[in-house]
Amino acid sequence: MTSPISTNRHGDILIVTSNNPPVNALGAAVRQGLVAAIKEAEGDDAIKAVVITCAGQTYFAGADITEFGKPPVMPWLPEVVDRIESCSKPVVAAVHGTALGGGLEIALGCHYRVALPTAKFGVPEVKLGLLPGAGGTQRLPRVAGVPKALEMVTSGGMIGAKEAAALGLVDRLIEGDLVEHAVAYAEEVRAIRPLPKSSERDDKLAEARANPAIFDDFRKANARKMKGFEAPELNIQAVEAAVAKPYAEGVLDERRLFMQLMSGSQARAQQYFFFAERKAAKIDNIPDDTRPRDIKRVGVIGAGTMGGGISMNFLSAGIPVTIVEMAQDALDRGTGTVRKNYEATAAKGRMTPEQVEQAMGALNPTLDFNALADCDLIIEAVFETMEIKQEIFGKLDKIAKPGAILASNTSYLNIDEIAAATSRPQDVVGLHFFSPANIMKLLEVVRGANTAPDVLVTAMQLAKRIKKVAVVAGVCHGFIGNRMLMPRQVEATKLLLEGATPDQIDRVHVEFGMPMGPFQMADLAGVDIGWHRDPTRIENIRDALAAEGRWGQKKNAGFYDYDEKRRPSPSARVQEIIDEFRAKEGVEKRDISDQEIVERTLYTMVNEGAKILEEGMAQRASDIDVVWIYGYGWPVYRGGPMHWADGEGLDKIVAGLRNQEARMGSDFSFSQLLLDKAASGGKFTR
Ligand code: 3HC
Repeated sequence: MTSPISTNRHGDILIVTSNNPPVNALGAAVRQGLVAAIKEAEGDDAIKAVVITCAGQTYFAGADITEFGKPPVMPWLPEVVDRIESCSKPVVAAVHGTALGGGLEIALGCHYRVALPTAKFGVPEVKLGLLPGAGGTQRLPRVAGVPKALEMVTSGGMIGAKEAAALGLVDRLIEGDLVEHAVAYAEEVRAIRPLPKSSERDDKLAEARANPAIFDDFRKANARKMKGFEAPELNIQAVEAAVAKPYAEGVLDERRLFMQLMSGSQARAQQYFFFAERKAAKIDNIPDDTRPRDIKRVGVIGAGTMGGGISMNFLSAGIPVTIVEMAQDALDRGTGTVRKNYEATAAKGRMTPEQVEQAMGALNPTLDFNALADCDLIIEAVFETMEIKQEIFGKLDKIAKPGAILASNTSYLNIDEIAAATSRPQDVVGLHFFSPANIMKLLEVVRGANTAPDVLVTAMQLAKRIKKVAVVAGVCHGFIGNRMLMPRQVEATKLLLEGATPDQIDRVHVEFGMPMGPFQMADLAGVDIGWHRDPTRIENIRDALAAEGRWGQKKNAGFYDYDEKRRPSPSARVQEIIDEFRAKEGVEKRDISDQEIVERTLYTMVNEGAKILEEGMAQRASDIDVVWIYGYGWPVYRGGPMHWADGEGLDKIVAGLRNQEARMGSDFSFSQLLLDKAASGGKFTR
């Protein structure tokens, strides 16, 4: 097998090139090749310096994640980085694309770093439940300073080359040919001794040594972001060790902390999710050569919260949008909100005023439905009523140009019935955005019975262009996400009657790691959503709340009372309503354990997920996990409901559901797939 590492000489400089597509991950062959290249450089007196560069789209994007959990193959990455640093001749990293994780650690092992201005640098290990384990937690603070290192290791975010240069992480920015200039740079520094080694630097640690409180301050300032996650804290501890101990000792701490994380369930979940997210983009049963349709202009019907948010995705990606409303004031309100959102982003410094104007300039608001005629994709975002949707699609059928994709943003309704209102069901697809649509990363792409393969491929590609993560769902009530929400909601509401409080149920969910519980979510979304609007018809607790105007946060009252700062507190009135219903329905009040709440609201979701899978409504279990993590904030360190269930043990899930079966009554039925897998010791995601 040929090595992904090749060497060639340019005068007395050895150019070491990695060619390991797609992202130059540091697999065993790359590591072996790098060590061999350093040996080659040292073994030849004619070589005076080394340049390490990568072919293809990027510099090393980190360790090869597919090797994790497999028997280690030597040399391991920390050894490779040390070997580069201990090279007796200067080594220059020539960086383009993204130097990530182990890739940045390699660059830090080099004595010098040069980069294209477009290059990016980061240590995303924390997103995989890890820390930079090849000396990165020790070298990065020594080179970039402790505050920046803390931010980078705990967020996993990237910084641009200019910032890296300002920090001293990059020695020179290169305009023009990277390798040519890197070689020239190597010529310049070839005679300098001693060689500058990141591990030997101390200057940038002095400030933190003088002020060790920096670490606790950082913990406090970021507590909310890091809550529930193990890796950020251990990353901080590793950087603390860099400050408190000599390099040789700090690096031992780093190794111990790395191994601790690597053997934990969070790292397993987060690494699983890395691949789950990428797998979601792949569509089953589609010919490989399917070409996407060209999308140059998008139409959006409805300028409400959803329509406006959906439009922003395309505008931000530079795709012009025609937005249609029925009345001028609704249109003005909608476009006004889009502008306000952009201006708020600009006020935070994340957009320039010119970019705001550019995005707004690409928005064409109109009352004229016929203006949709030149759109390549038209997304309907109006009321959730089949009659209205069918009427709109009937009209669209007459107006839209041939080959235009006709999409509905419905969150529950049957795409096939909507498609039946047109003469071109092959062009119809569901594009279910999550609210707020300009922010939430998830997009459910609903594949109708007749949706053409190239329409699906277009939807998945477009999702990437607008920075969404798309998951394909089949046609069923609520698709993947909202369908799984239903059993949770049903059981949560019944639990109130049986003796739990909204507060207790929400607490169990928040302690589990959800951003909020079912009743906090109802208050945020609006208790009146889906309400029949007849205050005299009170059939359940939700009807009673809605009839009294307790519509949630927007009314300062819902399942909770809210003060003027929107802080919730348990509501005596809501408890009265619950008590009245309990009496009316003759339900006996009892103490509800937290475990019962888990079994009835989370295990039931797993059961529903299994049904979705066995009915073929999701392509794979990991897609369900992607939906729940990106659409509803399921804690990524638990890997999504299906991965979590696998970890719990499917036999335990089944036993828990059996415990509750009688109480759940006819609202519940077992998924056969779940029962079968539990019986055979199988798993959904492994
Ligand atoms: N190892 C193995 N495979 C990887 C990989 C890695 N580090 N990074 C990306 N890939 C694979 C992806 O799975 C994908 O495979 P597929 O085509 O079969 O689905 C392919 O490379 C392309 O990846 P993307 O679809 O993500 O491509 P993009 O161009 O959108 O993004 C990227 C490129 C920014 C490099 C992105 O892939 C990324 O962020 N990668 C992960 C980087 C990372 O986490 N590095 C740290 C690794 S841990 C480490 O280094 C430990 C060390 O400290 C000891």
